[in-house]
Amino acid sequence: MKKILVLGSLILMGMFTGCSDDKKEEKSETAKVKTQVLKVAFNQSEKHPQYKALEEFSKELETQTNGAYKLEISPNELLGDQRATAELVQNGVIQMSIVGNPVVESFNKDFAVIGLPYLYDSLEHQKKVFLSDVLDPLFKSTTSSGFEVIGAFTAGARCLYTNKPMTQPSDLKGYKFRVMQSDTMKKMVDYMGGVGTPMGQGEVYTAVQQGVIEGGENNEVTYVDLKHYEIAPYFSYTNHLMVPDLIIVNEKFYNGMTPENKKIFDDLMKKTIEKEFEVWSENVEIAKKIAIENGAQFIEVDIKPFQERVKPLQDEVANISDMTKKIYTDVRALAN
Ligand code: GCU
Repeated sequence: MKKILVLGSLILMGMFTGCSDDKKEEKSETAKVKTQVLKVAFNQSEKHPQYKALEEFSKELETQTNGAYKLEISPNELLGDQRATAELVQNGVIQMSIVGNPVVESFNKDFAVIGLPYLYDSLEHQKKVFLSDVLDPLFKSTTSSGFEVIGAFTAGARCLYTNKPMTQPSDLKGYKFRVMQSDTMKKMVDYMGGVGTPMGQGEVYTAVQQGVIEGGENNEVTYVDLKHYEIAPYFSYTNHLMVPDLIIVNEKFYNGMTPENKKIFDDLMKKTIEKEFEVWSENVEIAKKIAIENGAQFIEVDIKPFQERVKPLQDEVANISDMTKKIYTDVRALAN
């Protein structure tokens, strides 16, 4: 109910203020007094590394733009699930959201390539890619949909968790694992030996409890944030996926900033992305400790058989278009 009310008033505000957006911005640029509050949707808690990184970004942005902008971050899916918030960004009701790569994949299929299993070798490799410019052409491709992807946060490496260890593909037989909502994600778990079952992240706990699915796949931070160790205590290090979380921004707002403010915004975002990698690693350790205290077991896995299994999916997605071919090659070239 609370969510619906917040969302309702946001949409109304958007309707009434939508046409005067430019004026408001102009005032803040010249008078340097009126701060434009950028509404940001986030689907996880205030403890999450990405939330912390965005808070820092907001402080710096406000200082460096002399108070022209600051962020108001709504955590815990308060503004809706990631898919719904992408639409709010498109329509300019809010300015920003952090969404998993599969959400943007539904606007442009080429995005599947950066969310392929075993594409990145390590966090270091992923960091190199996110701080390089190899993804820029892909990121610019959503402009016609009303938003731009201005960068990517890491969400670590995803692993399978359920009621028993998963150390080889045959262990997954008949096991339904929740995956993020995209064809690529479903195929990934199917190739790995199980049954990929797309659904929203918020539904996983109950679905496992009720036996609709046997487990999920996610990183340690989310595993603990959502207390999934209570319903799926075996976390097996398949490390099969390092899916980027994309920072999406309303196109009209983003390209409406003065060149000076846009530069500040972009430079700060790059630093924020780098910083989030550091915070991420610290949070993984903390999360693991909490999970173990609550009875979870972390199991090491030989990933080679799983890597072999998903090769057809890598080939299929890398060859979707010239863009995916180039990005696949460029990303692999940055591997350590
Ligand atoms: C991770 C990721 C989120 C995503 C979630 C999911 O937590 O950071 O962006 O929503 O996984 O599995 O849906």
